[in-house]
Amino acid sequence: MPRPTTLTTRIFLDSGSPDDTRSTLDLLGFLDGQTTNPSLVAKALRADNPDIALKQQELMDAYKGIVQNISQMIPHGSVSIEVYGDKDTVAETMITQGREMNTWIPNAHIKLPTTKAGLEAANVLTGEGVRVNMTLIFSQAQAAAVHAATFGAKKGDVFLSPFVGRLDDRGENGIDLISRISDMYKKEESHVEILTASVRNIDHFLASIAAGTDIITCPKKILDEWAASNFITPEATYSYTRDDLSSIPDASVSLTQSWQEYNIQHDLTDAGLQKFADDWNALIA
Ligand code: E4P
Repeated sequence: MPRPTTLTTRIFLDSGSPDDTRSTLDLLGFLDGQTTNPSLVAKALRADNPDIALKQQELMDAYKGIVQNISQMIPHGSVSIEVYGDKDTVAETMITQGREMNTWIPNAHIKLPTTKAGLEAANVLTGEGVRVNMTLIFSQAQAAAVHAATFGAKKGDVFLSPFVGRLDDRGENGIDLISRISDMYKKEESHVEILTASVRNIDHFLASIAAGTDIITCPKKILDEWAASNFITPEATYSYTRDDLSSIPDASVSLTQSWQEYNIQHDLTDAGLQKFADDWNALIA
């Protein structure tokens, strides 16, 4: 199946498994990229060996092997590789990891958490020409800080990943955040591209496309549903209406401040960072 002609949004797979890359390519006939994270890589490694316990370096080597395998299957796509980080990880440590991971494959986007340390790392790495994907985004202020911290990078080099499903989980309409960031970035012609993540259902998939996301990353099962629907694409007016979710209003954030000035604190970012670190550390012997 070639890409639907009405679809300009790039479609990524959200998985730490090269087997999923292969089966998605078979399913869709194309794939624009793949996102990995520590939890997804842990899941893929456990699927092969439920009792896996590795030394730190062996675990990094396993991650490298996985992304190299994925990269070979989608050489013209983007593969996101996430640095290890917890609340105490400083920017310099993320920068060192990012530089190293960027040598693993030619088509990497280095995933960094949207924390103060992550933004500082993004500022340095994009200045060196490293492509980044800023993850664990839950607010418009965080999106503005990403724009400011990576200002000067070219379009295509900076992705931003709002987690719609995790906002829904706590009663807020995650798709609203996609609309708010999309409107804010359009107004200023931002270089940052929106990559909708934490997609839980086909409604998220269609609504985020209608809301103006540049890219969407989905687990294989959502792409299976999309294929079963004969690759439907939404009308621009498609909306995600859920009475049980509160809407996220426009925060009226300007993009002109320096990145250090935005209030980027968010509980879900802190909790998400901790969960990624826990899932990663659980693999270490
Ligand atoms: C991808 O970039 C994200 O890490 C992923 O979509 C998170 O999904 P989850 O909220 O289902 O864990």
